[in-house]
Amino acid sequence: MTEEAHGIAGGLTNYGDPDFARYLRRSFARSMGLSSEMLDKPIIGIAMTPSGFNNCHRTMDELVEAVSRGVLAAGALPRPFPTVSLGEVFLNPTSMMYRNLMAMDTEEMIGAQPMDAVVLIGGCDKTVPAQLMGAASADVPAIQLVTGPMSTGRYRGQRLGACTDCRSFWGKYRAGSVSAQEIAEIEAQLSVTAGTCAVMGTASTMACIAETLGMSLPGTAAIPAVNAHRLVAAEMTGRAAVRLLTTRIRPSQVITEKSVENALRMLMCVGGSTNAIVHLTAIAGRLGIRITPDRLNQISDETPVLVDLKPVGEGYMEDFHAAGGVGAVLRELKPLLHLDTVDVEGTTLAERLAEPMPWVDRAVIRPFADPVSKVGGLIALRGSLAPDGAIFKRAAATPGLFESEGRAVVFTGLEDLSARIDDPDLDVVEGDILVLQNAGPHACGMPEAGYLPIPKKLAQAGVKDMVRISDARMSGTAFGTIVLHVAPEAAIGGPLGAVRNGDRIRLSVAEKRIDLLVAPDEIARRLEGFTPPPRPVRGYKALYRNTVTQAPLGCDFDFLTG
Ligand code: FES
Repeated sequence: MTEEAHGIAGGLTNYGDPDFARYLRRSFARSMGLSSEMLDKPIIGIAMTPSGFNNCHRTMDELVEAVSRGVLAAGALPRPFPTVSLGEVFLNPTSMMYRNLMAMDTEEMIGAQPMDAVVLIGGCDKTVPAQLMGAASADVPAIQLVTGPMSTGRYRGQRLGACTDCRSFWGKYRAGSVSAQEIAEIEAQLSVTAGTCAVMGTASTMACIAETLGMSLPGTAAIPAVNAHRLVAAEMTGRAAVRLLTTRIRPSQVITEKSVENALRMLMCVGGSTNAIVHLTAIAGRLGIRITPDRLNQISDETPVLVDLKPVGEGYMEDFHAAGGVGAVLRELKPLLHLDTVDVEGTTLAERLAEPMPWVDRAVIRPFADPVSKVGGLIALRGSLAPDGAIFKRAAATPGLFESEGRAVVFTGLEDLSARIDDPDLDVVEGDILVLQNAGPHACGMPEAGYLPIPKKLAQAGVKDMVRISDARMSGTAFGTIVLHVAPEAAIGGPLGAVRNGDRIRLSVAEKRIDLLVAPDEIARRLEGFTPPPRPVRGYKALYRNTVTQAPLGCDFDFLTG
């Protein structure tokens, strides 16, 4: 055992008699069929997240087995343990509400149980952020392994991948150009393997961010879930976790201001998910690192989009992996990166990138000089409608709508939206701006409702995109001219709640502004009568409501930030 590893004797249960606690623990551990020799070894915890409600983690058992194989081969004892698992589409009102619960579970179980280092296995959208948040706070040597993306399905000769294609076909179905029979056939072909969504959605973006931060082994972010190399990566991750027993490299040494900036560049460069900015902010926030809107915009303006994947471009994650993955992108970004950051292996980024890639598919990962877009995918907006900020994914928006002024069509909440969006009598025309209020973190956990559907009568008339504004999030797999994460949100008295039907709103991507063209004293007058919605009185929902921060601070709990 290394000097600092404590194995089974670490963090003893408190009976007031440490020798008794040690003896009792070993005795109970023996009941799991472990020999005394195995109990003398250092312990690698494996935070596993299988669930009958999480399709993205279907391969968890074989990943745990492969990590355990690596740990055993390197001379330590693997101990898998469960935590909360969050399957994106199975949670009500939204998985976002439970990310912090999973982060707390992960942090506390790492800290409370006797492990000398930990492997975190996650994949679906909120799970990797939660695990990295928890690991950052526990600050026990840790390494991330992702479950990997799904492979594509086929429908009448066309490749299909969740969930950008889910949305585009659903839009066509709403517009009447895809039949009920066809949409039923498509449903069966969208998600045909284990793994996370097949495009550069939130899960894929977070996998790329974890590798860029240095929390995952190089080359592991994009390996498809069902590819045998994913199991090899798991075995190698187990071995690397055992090396952490010697190096004692902690998350706080890997997740630094510089590595967070590198991760931001990766987020911009892959045209990544808007959700990822909230999650990266929360992860960084656990270690006292702040991402300001000005720095985000500076990085976005300097960093091109190089990766041609859906929802911004054409390809799928399986193409990204075959094209060279995160390593190829990092090499293109090298002049912009902090190269003195270290990963979980203690290797600097400069050392990691020293060797050129043998081959890169330039149809998928463009060279720096020939980008998909010269500027990054996301920008922060500010203005009278969002004094504390909002997020806009310019890479997935319609350039013709970047400089827009229009009439507001307001929905006061999710129920109002679903009740009226398809009403043939809805007073809406092309060029109007759809506004959704009361869908932020305090209102309802900030669901992915910001991708407001195009009103049916406009969709059927051929309208493909409109400016849409809310305090909600949207799926990383979605696309459109959509302003999200408006802060402060309507439910805590933000000016978004003061918008009325017919008000003029101006979006300027060039100026990075979103403004309500109503006199400030009129906005103040409208907000005078504001009363917040009732608070939950008990349990986790009350804790969430009382302590969750706004999107620009990562929607973490205020008492968990660094
Ligand atoms: Fe799990 Fe998309 S539903 S990653």
